Amino acid sequence: MNDIIITSKFTVYQNSSELSTLENNLLLKAIQARNNAYAPYSKFCVGVALLLEDGTIIQGNNQENAAYPSGICAERVAIWSAASQFPNLKISKIFISAKSKNGMVDKPVSPCGACRQAIAEYEFKQAQNIEILFTGETGKILKSNSIIDLLPLAFDNSLL
Ligand code: THU
Repeated sequence: MNDIIITSKFTVYQNSSELSTLENNLLLKAIQARNNAYAPYSKFCVGVALLLEDGTIIQGNNQENAAYPSGICAERVAIWSAASQFPNLKISKIFISAKSKNGMVDKPVSPCGACRQAIAEYEFKQAQNIEILFTGETGKILKSNSIIDLLPLAFDNSLL
């Protein structure tokens, strides 16, 4: 019997002024998407800007439903939109931004477990890492180099 220790690395930006121009632009697009979120029930608005290898930016936001489980997170809206429109282009980065109408979100909002699994599918498919950046309305921005930093021991199709 032995233990394994899994480590994850995140880069912490104190605010958007520390980001590159490209990543700042992605953040602005994520905020723009966030403002179009349909979240009348939770009032928690999430926006995503996803960068493809050719520079195309795909936006997504959460879409809620009166039948609550029929709603969907911003990350899956964005990644499935990208995968359905541009199946042959690799995904370089995903920027996530969240804001609540119930109070200030001042901590980075990381993707939920289901979204991590959905993003991992495309990272495996393209055999190239996807950078994940996430933040709240204000405060720090966290960046991981791969979805696997957020989902160690991910389930993949090698087991099927
Ligand atoms: N939500 C997202 O869109 N992304 C996340 O990473 C976390 C949660 C949405 C789902 C729901 O519409 C609302 O935020 C509250 O959970």
